[in-house]
Amino acid sequence: MKGSVILVLVVLALVAQDRLAGGQENKLYDYTKYHTMDEISGWMNQMERENPAIVSSMIYGQTYENRNMTLLKIGSNSTTPKKAVWMDCGIHAREWITPAFCQHFVKEILGSYQTDPKVNMLFKNLDFFITPVLNMDGYIYSWKDNTTRLWRKSRSPGTGNCTCIGTDLNRNFNANWGMVGISRNCCSTLYNGPTPLSEPEAQAVTDFLEAHQNQLLCYLTIHSYGQLILVPYGHPNISAPNYDELMEVGLTAVNAIKAVHGKSYKVGTPPDVLYAVSGSTMDFARLIGIPYSFAFELRDKGHCGFLLPEDQIQPTCEEAYQGAMSIINYVHDKNFRGSAIAVTATLWTTLVASWISSANVF
Ligand SMILES: *[C@@H]1O[C@H](CO)[C@@H](O)[C@H](O)[C@H]1NC(C)=O
Ligand SMILES: *[C@@H]1O[C@H](CO)[C@@H](O)[C@H](O)[C@H]1NC(C)=O
Ligand SMILES: *[C@@H]1O[C@H](CO)[C@@H](O)[C@H](O)[C@H]1NC(C)=O
Ligand SMILES: *[C@@H]1O[C@H](CO)[C@@H](O)[C@H](O)[C@H]1NC(C)=O
Ligand SMILES: *[C@@H]1O[C@H](CO)[C@@H](O)[C@H](O)[C@H]1NC(C)=O
Ligand SMILES: [Zn+2]
Repeated sequence: MKGSVILVLVVLALVAQDRLAGGQENKLYDYTKYHTMDEISGWMNQMERENPAIVSSMIYGQTYENRNMTLLKIGSNSTTPKKAVWMDCGIHAREWITPAFCQHFVKEILGSYQTDPKVNMLFKNLDFFITPVLNMDGYIYSWKDNTTRLWRKSRSPGTGNCTCIGTDLNRNFNANWGMVGISRNCCSTLYNGPTPLSEPEAQAVTDFLEAHQNQLLCYLTIHSYGQLILVPYGHPNISAPNYDELMEVGLTAVNAIKAVHGKSYKVGTPPDVLYAVSGSTMDFARLIGIPYSFAFELRDKGHCGFLLPEDQIQPTCEEAYQGAMSIINYVHDKNFRGSAIAVTATLWTTLVASWISSANVF
């Protein structure tokens, strides 16, 4: 009798300990593994809970299957007007390295803004709007089993006679929709949807970008694979007014990437380095006037493709982080150089004024 009471107590103690360990595990999120949508949603809540002064979340739409599309807004409170950077990952379901990258990126900036004056400055002048998994329905489907792992599109059903499911969200935007690099067959992975913005996910992103058009300096969309930094436009017959600058900024990013683990990335427009495409988010962002619009294609070059092993998550994210940061720093410095000079000037004026007034006193 006594023995069994002790046994029960021991079992209870073990269970409690297990619970504690589980809680700790949740706190120490594993950034070197791929995570389910549920885990990523939990992680988003955790980021917000642990950094209330810096991180908030915002629901900006619903997916076809009625999931809330949520972004993390990251930055310091400021009394002066801020600019913003958008980043989305996971618009194509099977590109699992990309949600991993968005999470890595958030971890890095949150871990460094208190000690790294550069990131601190970014937080003062910029808000980051980050969506770790844009195509949530598709991402969940790609986790279903090994026959769905390579799913790319959304999960809305075809219209009319077509019984296949899904639209390529990155062909559904209002940017020369339907012109090139698409399929009108709803069974194709490149189906661009029955009409522009037929997909609620594309509509939600469009609404957000248009509402923040004057605030957004930089649009970054993360894909895999191919090791590329793409600049507008995907359509072959138009050219961005700041094409030369975009190429230069892209080249700097490529050098920053190479310096980390020696990986070679290429820069160019989609028709120059990949294939022509219309209806993409990158083109749409640039067309509405967001000056610095880029798409990343992360590792690798096709050996593992979408099935990039977990042991490559960390190095891929480390190099891409430096690439993204080189773009963001460029954009920030260019836009806030004036205000930095103004700050210095104000400082000198105050100093001189205080000398003069102290001279008056003495
Ligand atoms: C910043 O603003 C948010 C939302 O208004 C607020 O919850 C938070 O406490 C503020 N943080 C600081 C440090 O003032
Ligand atoms: C979406 O967000 C709203 C508002 O927070 C909430 O009431 C609702 O339950 C959420 N829906 C889902 C499917 O999570
Ligand atoms: C999918 O999983 C099943 C059961 O685990 C396995 O037998 C099959 O070989 C897998 N197929 C592929 C293509 O990996
Ligand atoms: C749909 O199927 C019907 C019957 O097969 C056919 O008459 C019609 O042309 C088809 N519509 C389209 C848009 O293909
Ligand atoms: C681009 O211009 C060429 C020459 O005018 C034309 O043949 C081609 O169809 C255009 N491409 C697209 C996608 O509009
Ligand atoms: Zn993609």
